[in-house]
Amino acid sequence: MPEILGATGLVVELGARRGLLRHRAGMRAVDGVDLSIAQGETFGIVGESGCGKTTLARALLGLQRESSGEIRLEGRTVSGLEPRAARRVRDAVQYVHQDPGAALDPWWRVGATLAEGLAIHGVTDRAEQRARIAETLAAVGLDAAMTDRYPHELSGGQQRRIGLARILLLRPKVVILDEPTAGLDLSVQAAVLRLLRDLRARFGLTYVFISHDLSVVRRVCDRVAVMYLGRVVEHGSAATIFAEPRHPYTRALIAAAPHLDGRESGPSLPGDPPSLRAIPPGCRFHPRCAAAAETCTRREPVLEEAGLAHAVACLRWRDLAPETPGRDAA
Ligand SMILES: Nc1ncnc2c1ncn2[C@@H]1O[C@H](COP(=O)(O)OP(=O)(O)O)[C@@H](O)[C@H]1O
Ligand code: SF4
Ligand SMILES: [Mg+2]
Repeated sequence: MPEILGATGLVVELGARRGLLRHRAGMRAVDGVDLSIAQGETFGIVGESGCGKTTLARALLGLQRESSGEIRLEGRTVSGLEPRAARRVRDAVQYVHQDPGAALDPWWRVGATLAEGLAIHGVTDRAEQRARIAETLAAVGLDAAMTDRYPHELSGGQQRRIGLARILLLRPKVVILDEPTAGLDLSVQAAVLRLLRDLRARFGLTYVFISHDLSVVRRVCDRVAVMYLGRVVEHGSAATIFAEPRHPYTRALIAAAPHLDGRESGPSLPGDPPSLRAIPPGCRFHPRCAAAAETCTRREPVLEEAGLAHAVACLRWRDLAPETPGRDAA
């Protein structure tokens, strides 16, 4: 399938100040990321909290201006623009907020919020608004009467569905889902995942699926990129990443993930959680890596091919014994 959304050498620096007298260097929350997301796939982005997933999403959307690098949408370069212009040309990319409740105005009925979204996009005719809202609510499995409710009257699952309805109204091609199942009970999670799969097929969507929950990513994603401190350290098909993880960080994440059958999760990740304020020299994972050697403190690994459509950024991946297939592989 052709690429629908892509990035090359994407860098996003946060908190930088360039004054006449004082410069303050920023933190590179996204530090040289290459991505190529194919039409119709579900592309997972995983990594611990604070590794730059949401910042990457905001840059792809055009909400956060990239510091350097290129972003492509349907074959066109869409980077290098001011945020307002960037959002306009990237209207086909929409975002479902990490906390859909927080994204809804508590003082507005759901119907008013949905209608306003349409109005901003030029659909001002009331009858057309009503028809599109009813059709979209039905698509996400909600009754049209939901429009009279206030956000606090909705359950967590209903809020997710409204969050989806809100962006589906705008007829996107790519939907970035930021932690779409976080904070939901397992049964609600399963219903939301089923709905996402149905909507993808029905509307021909492409998903960028951001999550720190590996068991969910394994179930729904076609391909996966693993991020650590602003960098992609491994990427490949979900099947390869989970059966033959090569990067010690990916292996540690998989080992720490809860089992699919509900058994307790394995050992948590070693060492302190990473901070962009103190990026270690050499391989940025080395202070936490059980396989680290002296060279890892000096040399920075780059992504290299580790198999068919599989890449890893580790100086020692060839020396490390292939992992027995990931748990739950059977
Ligand atoms: N607007 C901002 N200004 C400065 N730092 C930020 C800003 N937004 C996020 N950060 C920091 O950038 C890092 C990456 O954050 P984020 O992209 O939200 O990570 P994730 O979504 O993976 O948890 C974190 O250290 C966070 O504290
Ligand atoms: S380069 Fe070294 S420290 Fe980094 S992941 Fe590989 S073995 Fe570990
Ligand atoms: Mg986030």
